[in-house]
Amino acid sequence: MDKHLFICPCMFGLESVLAGEIKRLGGEDVVTTDGKVSFSGNTDMIARANINLRTAERVLLVLGSFTATSFTELFDKTKALPWERYIGRDNNFPVKGYSLNSKLFSIPDCQKIIKKAVVSRLSEKYRISWFEETGPLMQIQFSIFKDTATLMIDTSGYALHKRGYRKTSNAAPIKETLAAGIIDFARVRSGGSIYDPFCGSGTFLIESALRATNTAPGLMRPFQAMRWNWIDRKVWYNAKDEARDKINPNPDLICYGSDIDPEAINLTMENARAAGVEKYIKAEVLDIKDFKPKTENGIIFANPPYGERLLDIRQAERIYKTMGKVFPKDGFSKYIVSASEDFEDFYGLKANKNRKLFNGSLRCRVYMYY
Ligand SMILES: C[S@@+](CC[C@H](N)C(=O)[O-])C[C@H]1O[C@@H](n2cnc3c(N)ncnc32)[C@H](O)[C@@H]1O
Repeated sequence: MDKHLFICPCMFGLESVLAGEIKRLGGEDVVTTDGKVSFSGNTDMIARANINLRTAERVLLVLGSFTATSFTELFDKTKALPWERYIGRDNNFPVKGYSLNSKLFSIPDCQKIIKKAVVSRLSEKYRISWFEETGPLMQIQFSIFKDTATLMIDTSGYALHKRGYRKTSNAAPIKETLAAGIIDFARVRSGGSIYDPFCGSGTFLIESALRATNTAPGLMRPFQAMRWNWIDRKVWYNAKDEARDKINPNPDLICYGSDIDPEAINLTMENARAAGVEKYIKAEVLDIKDFKPKTENGIIFANPPYGERLLDIRQAERIYKTMGKVFPKDGFSKYIVSASEDFEDFYGLKANKNRKLFNGSLRCRVYMYY
């Protein structure tokens, strides 16, 4: 099978979690940089990475990387790449990307030059001058960073945090990929009691159940590369069979969710049903002031309201104080996502560890108590 190079972008702060996932999946030459992880693998890795990775935002197939400080250089080096290996006569191949700290900074110009170079290459290979582009999408993506251009094709389609179970969502859901990363920090295994007293749309509970049952997050959705004819259908069937075989159907797990908003509880259960994990999830309407764990030990995940987005800051701070009072001191590890730099003061205890993260564009920290 052919060997390829891949790049998976991820949320800042989750690079090491993603690198671990890729290594466990059998990815080779794994290299971690800010906000992304690169690795190599065979064609079957396109299917396996998309289906299995919990913290990657997408899986990009890398065509090549080179220095480009002029449009001529960008054109010539783009044209030199083996585009015909991936893009057929009928494929639709639009170009998008970004440039940072580089001489070539005009995105529309870079887009035009790259498109021209790819068309020129494919025209020579296929001996045609006009491309109808009516076939499956091959989204070309470029990044130019400090004068190094990297050219890629997106294999995922819509971003991987869209697992397919969250049909509807509340005002401020945590991204599925971020929740999965925090769940990895907490070492959720196949058993135990998990709590989320601000469960909203149920992301922490559902991602915990997927993790504990070893259910791949991508089993419920399609990927762009499924439509590419150079990838044998069997590659996808095999990857899905492999993922299904790994599911643990009977974990000793209960995920307890609560939220002050009845609509959030309906959402949680609706999403849990869509994810096929409702039997592990119990959810009830409850104000945080009345929170009391139902077990002697477990893991508590919490993503309390951010002052900036939901309640006002004062109210959010009152909630942090209440959490400090009602969360048990012993028997439980706690992973709390907050945008407040003073969270620990209100909560009343310094975390064993914290990590900077972004929830969407919001800078926050996960405070870990264990
Ligand atoms: C930032 S959202 C949590 C989002 C959730 N992690 C998700 O992925 O959908 C905060 C949640 O806290 C809930 N909430 C606000 N005040 C509360 C209180 N006093 N007790 C319990 N829940 C509360 C809100 O209804 C909201 O669903």
